[in-house]
Amino acid sequence: MENAKPLVAVVMAAGKSTRMKSRTPKVLHPVAGRPVIEFILQAARDGCGATDAVVIVGYAAEQVRDHLDAAWGGTVRFATQEPQLGTGHAIMQAGPLLEGFEGDLLALAGDTPLVTADVLRTLADRHRASGAAATMLTALMDDPGSYGRVVRGANGTVGYIVEARDASADELAVREINTSIYCFQARPLFAALARLRPDNAQGEYYLTDVIAMLIADGQRVEAVVSPDPDVVMGVNTRVELAKAAAIVRARALERLMLDGVTVLDPASTYVDVGVMVGADTVLYPGTYLEGNTVVGEGCVIGPHTHMVDARVGNNVSVVQSRVVSSDIADDVRVGPFANVRAGTVLGRDARIGSFVETKKAVLGEGAKVAHLSYIGDATLGPRVNVGGGTITCNYDGRHKHPTTIGAGAFIGSNNTLVAPVTVGDGAYTAAGSTITDDVPHNALALGRARQAVKEGWAERKRASEDT
Ligand code: UD1
Ligand code: CA
Repeated sequence: MENAKPLVAVVMAAGKSTRMKSRTPKVLHPVAGRPVIEFILQAARDGCGATDAVVIVGYAAEQVRDHLDAAWGGTVRFATQEPQLGTGHAIMQAGPLLEGFEGDLLALAGDTPLVTADVLRTLADRHRASGAAATMLTALMDDPGSYGRVVRGANGTVGYIVEARDASADELAVREINTSIYCFQARPLFAALARLRPDNAQGEYYLTDVIAMLIADGQRVEAVVSPDPDVVMGVNTRVELAKAAAIVRARALERLMLDGVTVLDPASTYVDVGVMVGADTVLYPGTYLEGNTVVGEGCVIGPHTHMVDARVGNNVSVVQSRVVSSDIADDVRVGPFANVRAGTVLGRDARIGSFVETKKAVLGEGAKVAHLSYIGDATLGPRVNVGGGTITCNYDGRHKHPTTIGAGAFIGSNNTLVAPVTVGDGAYTAAGSTITDDVPHNALALGRARQAVKEGWAERKRASEDT
């Protein structure tokens, strides 16, 4: 493709998504953690080197534009379609941005997240090789439903596309459908678009009508049949959203498994497309890895573990736990039943045990919080041991305050650490203490009432009750 003509991808994303019944435009609904529209942009970039992309926005334009500006770093240009008068009208809006453009235009629908880079590459290659004015991607479906039908002539060449709602019974019986993915020579495309008429059931300017117009003009139109009908599926309803998500998830898991990750039960394992997992890690059933989570090698994750934007090292185990926006170093053990909240940093060989909640907590190497504790806004040095049932009182009702525990310090069970407070290196606090004052290095702090013992008290009480 070295000296190929320039190619621009134009993605239609202005439609109202009526069938989604949502405030959010459908192209921003996530599929395995990534908004629908980003899949086709990625496929166009990977498959056809389409570094120039124009997205047609209209319904909820600002939301779509803001999202893509943030996610695609200004590499996407926008044209606004207002009002939305159909797919042909949508592509027309790219005209002013492409003034004098002599290359090919890859017309794409924003709602087809399953299309692969390979399929787009095949389409663009065939288009360039044949020199056709338009090459459309079609697919054969057993149940073509509401898709536009591709009607071919007696000699087998493409004749025209008819939308399901405008089709006759004979046309509806056609199994070859229009995927809404085309490669056009930009010049004849825009010339035909200018002559489009909204003569159809919806009163819209249909991009599909351009096909018959080009043919009538004596131009060549080719079709590439997608080898897999699943990849061209459009997402118009939440039912289709769920179907697309299941396929994307299956692909993400397949990629991990081929890279050496054991997935015990793919059907109950949910991994977002942006997630990375190292070889020889085992994912148990009920595991959800979301966002930009990265898990290293040789880990055991799950069962029933939910991670969002977690960064996990090697040989870590996280069992029946939740981890959000946190860093976990090598050889750490978490859970079962831990809640590792945002800003937690666990040093190598650290341990977070059952019913422990952490938030903005930094644990040094080998530090342990093994049972029933809350550690928030706290910094624990290496080898600190926190006894069961310990709470950092980090909040005074208005502000959060820090707790600092020095290297090798030992916090007794059931301590209440009233922040701001510092416990020095190597210090001890007695079990059951409420620590309100700083504890020097290597000291022992006792912050509890001295135990009183009243000999024979119970006998006297029972005797007084019997009289
Ligand atoms: C379209 C095709 C149909 C094809 C199907 C494949 C037309 C007329 N029909 O139907 O032949 O089988 O896709 O999935 O082209 N959009 C705009 N502006 C508009 C209208 C739509 O940007 O004015 C965008 C939508 O946001 C969407 C895409 O174009 O991303 C497709 O529109 P949609 O309404 O979903 O078309 P379909 O009815 O699915
Ligand atoms: Ca659609």
